[in-house]
Amino acid sequence: MYQLFGKDSKKQEIYIYTLTNKSGMTVRFLNLGATIHEIWVPNKEGQPVLVSTTYDNPRSYEREYTYFGAVVAPYANRIAKGIFEIDGQVYKTDANMQGHSLHSGRNGLSKKVWDVKEQTNQKIVFTYDAKDLEQGFPGNIHYEVTYEVTDENELSISYYALSDKKTTINMTNHTYFNLAGAFSGSVEGHELWIKASHYTPVNPAKGLPTGEIAPVDGTPFDFRVTKTIGRDIRADFDQVRYAQGYDHNLVIDKETEGVEKFATAYAKETGIQMDAWTDCLGVQFYAGNFIGGQKGPNGYRYVKHNGFCLETQYFPNAINEANFVRPITEAGIPYESKTVYGFSCK
Ligand code: BGC
Repeated sequence: MYQLFGKDSKKQEIYIYTLTNKSGMTVRFLNLGATIHEIWVPNKEGQPVLVSTTYDNPRSYEREYTYFGAVVAPYANRIAKGIFEIDGQVYKTDANMQGHSLHSGRNGLSKKVWDVKEQTNQKIVFTYDAKDLEQGFPGNIHYEVTYEVTDENELSISYYALSDKKTTINMTNHTYFNLAGAFSGSVEGHELWIKASHYTPVNPAKGLPTGEIAPVDGTPFDFRVTKTIGRDIRADFDQVRYAQGYDHNLVIDKETEGVEKFATAYAKETGIQMDAWTDCLGVQFYAGNFIGGQKGPNGYRYVKHNGFCLETQYFPNAINEANFVRPITEAGIPYESKTVYGFSCK
């Protein structure tokens, strides 16, 4: 099922695609950025609640650099100075953020119109074909993002990319969750558990990792015992001060190479719980520190910390950082990754 949402600034038609299951979950997507537009899940009374932040027109998605629900590709998060090297060849992408690249620059795939290859009631496949050196990244690259909504109220995201040249790919999704309802203000009251005993500290001004992999023990980043997002968000600790809260890569304590549970969040207002699984090594836990003032539906203005993101990924700037696993995709060998967000009530 799909309907016209509106046109973007280039007069391209942006559509809303709807998936539903038999357990009361509805998820809507856009071809702009292969974006998750709305996630509706039942609360403890069985009433649908919108648990992701959204805009009511394509131009807001295009204009705002909040990346609500978008697929970020080729490269999630930061690349120092927008420069990287593969086999002695230097490549340069858009340095859109204080002299560094964030989320593949101003014209990354989050701002592109994707094609729909297939849609059923519970599954949709978006594709995008990037030309060699598009945004500075080597390779003609075929991207596919498959979303599925299961009857267990899970939303799964499968990423696939195939390049004809050795390249770097690090895909994520930038949904902001608010399990108390998208228009309910700050998520500081949410409870959160993250299975991560290390994180990657950043430098003061630009949010680039220092290269260190530091233990979370005794820091605000220790979510191994469930606590609220707000408890330590304004702690007297440099790393949360630099970022005005949480905007850091946590190193997931992986036990296998496969898809594993790494986080649980809960909002008592609705009784909605979200569990998250991934096969990625890291997750950018971003507490919406830099949102505020953007206009949502029905005149609602988003506030600081209005949503939190769990952006599964290779570590930021990993392509340049010797201490991190390097995201290299060889020619002809697919890049594949999977993340699942599951919803329930308690
Ligand atoms: C980044 C933040 C940025 C946000 C929205 C996050 O992934 O780490 O620094 O402000 O995305 O662009």
